[in-house]
Amino acid sequence: MEKMPYQPGMDHPMSTSAPVTSDWCNALPVLVGSKVTLRELELSDAPSLFAMLTAEEVSRFISPPPTTVEGFEKFIAWAHAERAAGRYVCFAVVPHGMHTAVGLFQVRQLEPGFATAEWGFALGSAFWGTGMFAESGQLVVDFAIETLRVGRLEARACVANGRGNGALRKLGAVQEGVLRRSFLKNGEFLDQLLWSILAEDWQEAKAMRSRVLVH
Ligand SMILES: CC(C)(COP(=O)(O)OP(=O)(O)OC[C@H]1O[C@@H](n2cnc3c(N)ncnc32)[C@H](O)[C@@H]1OP(=O)(O)O)[C@@H](O)C(=O)NCCC(=O)NCCS
Repeated sequence: MEKMPYQPGMDHPMSTSAPVTSDWCNALPVLVGSKVTLRELELSDAPSLFAMLTAEEVSRFISPPPTTVEGFEKFIAWAHAERAAGRYVCFAVVPHGMHTAVGLFQVRQLEPGFATAEWGFALGSAFWGTGMFAESGQLVVDFAIETLRVGRLEARACVANGRGNGALRKLGAVQEGVLRRSFLKNGEFLDQLLWSILAEDWQEAKAMRSRVLVH
């Protein structure tokens, strides 16, 4: 019998727990932390994302963001279509007390079914060093592992991106190697570090944290 290709919501080949059913392809869930809410991008986020993410200090080490508000609106429509197709999710980061996005977290499958995936993130620089990254990162990795059933979550960060690499290390990602001249920025090829989080490591660390909290 032909093996059925993995579909979002089916039990993950690398996972040991029960299958999670989710309708995330129809709409992303709202993830609530103590500082931020993560939710689906909305078209009304475009002006604020344009203002935050096109700043030089934010865009220095990432793929060039859209250069207009309309470009961000197109990106948001694209993100909805990719989520509906089950290939990609993008969460807007909304600090408590605000209504529009100040940053985003993306996860895209590297193969059909999300067994391996890559994530990326950016926050407006006014929100750096506030703890919003760490909280949002934990919520997104939990979602990736528990709902998308990601077994290996990769990230790439330019070697010179101190905050990006520091943020990944802090979250528990493991640095695996250097991808030489892998990122073209302003006509120059930059080296990147490859980071990964494995589902089993993440779940183990989470269980340890909850044991510490209980005792
Ligand atoms: C990446 C990003 C989302 C992280 O959010 P943040 O709020 O800056 O992250 P945090 O402050 O929680 O963590 C960064 C850590 O790196 C450390 N750090 C800062 N500069 C560093 C450097 N040059 N070398 C090493 N570590 C550094 C910080 O001290 C901090 O650790 P600490 O909390 O233990 O002090 C944010 O910086 C950003 O949007 N950057 C622009 C976009 C980007 O580069 N995205 C990442 C692509 S991989």
